[in-house]
Formats: sequence, C-alpha cells, structure tokens
Amino acid sequence: MTGNNGLGLLTIGRLAVTEDPAVSAAQVPFTRWGDGIVGTTPDAQFQLRVNQAVVSRAGGLVFTVGLDGDVLSAFGIGGVATPPAHRRHGYAGLLVRYLAAAALGLRQVDTVMLFSLAPLVSYYCGLGARVVRRSTLIQQPGGMVPLPSNVKLLAWQGTELSRGLWRRDGGAIEVRSLPW
Ligand SMILES: CC(C)(COP(=O)(O)OP(=O)(O)OC[C@H]1O[C@@H](n2cnc3c(N)ncnc32)[C@H](O)[C@@H]1OP(=O)(O)O)[C@@H](O)C(=O)NCCC(=O)NCCS
Repeated sequence: MTGNNGLGLLTIGRLAVTEDPAVSAAQVPFTRWGDGIVGTTPDAQFQLRVNQAVVSRAGGLVFTVGLDGDVLSAFGIGGVATPPAHRRHGYAGLLVRYLAAAALGLRQVDTVMLFSLAPLVSYYCGLGARVVRRSTLIQQPGGMVPLPSNVKLLAWQGTELSRGLWRRDGGAIEVRSLPW
C-alpha cells in the first residue's frame, strides 16, 4: 500500500495523519509473542503529527482471512506506538480509530484486525474493536499455527461477511498473513 491507498489524509486543525514511508516499523518486537513466531513488516506506516511533531504511529497492511469457506479482505493495524513523552493524551486512540474507520470505508475491506497483548485488550475494545473468540490459525513459514494464548485477535465489525467472525460454530479462522 502506498500513496493513493484510499485511506487519505486527515487534517483537523493542528492534527494530521499522513502516510510515512520513511519510518521503519516502530513495532513491538515479535519476541513478546513468545519464541518462534515470525512476523512481517506492514505495507505502510502511518503517523499522527501535532504541529509537525510525530506523536503516535502505526503500521497497516491488507491480507485475506479464511472464514467458513469464505475469504474476507482485512486491513491489519499493528506496531501502534506513542513516544513516551506524548503518552496518555489520546494520540494512539485517535490514530487507531481513524485508521479503522478509514479502512472500513474502503469498498474492498471487510474488516479491520489487530493483534493485542492481554493488558491492552480492553483499551482497544474501547476504540471499537471486539475480541474474536473463535479458534484462530496464523500463517507461519511452515504453515498455519494456532495463535499463542497470550495474544488476542481483535476485529472491527465491517461488512456482512465479517459477522461470521463472532459466530460460535464453524471451523478455525485462518489469518493468511504473517503477524504484523
Ligand atoms: C499503548 C500505547 C500505544 C498507548 O499510546 P497513547 O498515545 O498513550 O494512548 P492513549 O493516550 O490513546 O491511551 C492511553 C491508554 O493506554 C492504555 N495503556 C497503555 N499502556 C498500557 C499497559 N501497559 N497496560 C494497560 N493499559 C495500557 C491505558 O488504558 C491508557 O488509558 P488511560 O490513560 O485512560 O488509563 C503506548 O503506551 C505505547 O507506545 N506503548 C509501548 C508500545 C506498545 O505496547 N504498543 C501496543 C502494541 S499492541
């Protein structure tokens, strides 16, 4: 995803969300997921700026999800990070809400997903995400493996197809992307 990806540019007064191709992934190290999980770098990096200062950033990528024989197109948000000096001003929340809403506004996106460590689940749920409780497989170089128990898959409800993420019956959900 580059430049004209449809997520656009947000400018409200002093606030701006822009795509930031120069920033290398400000990601939470995958080692925090446990040993042996291989991740990928998001397709695009987004930054929230206030008066030119970068106050929060996140990565995004598009991938597919296998769900009960259907294929969903998902936009993943990851590597959410706010520099320590700017924390607790609502900046990460603003950026995540914006990216989720903008991605759900794209015709080709069925849902928005995010992997969360347990302590932050309620925070992201406050930003509109819901915990996906169905068993989940994630892509790894050797094939699909179960999502580690210390990580929760969160998703925003989007198209009708995405409602299946919260159905209790059915097989495992297949996230067809390395974690981001
Ligand atoms: C998590 C993080 C992105 C939040 O950024 P932020 O701009 O301060 O976020 P907001 O101001 O929107 O919200 C702050 C909220 O973060 C939550 N939070 C931050 N760190 C937390 C932690 N370790 N455990 C639980 N909650 C935490 C709190 O709920 C807090 O809400 P409160 O101020 O109402 O109590 C930031 O703390 C960070 O960069 N942490 C290190 C990287 C990281 O863990 N990223 C998450 C990857 S899933």
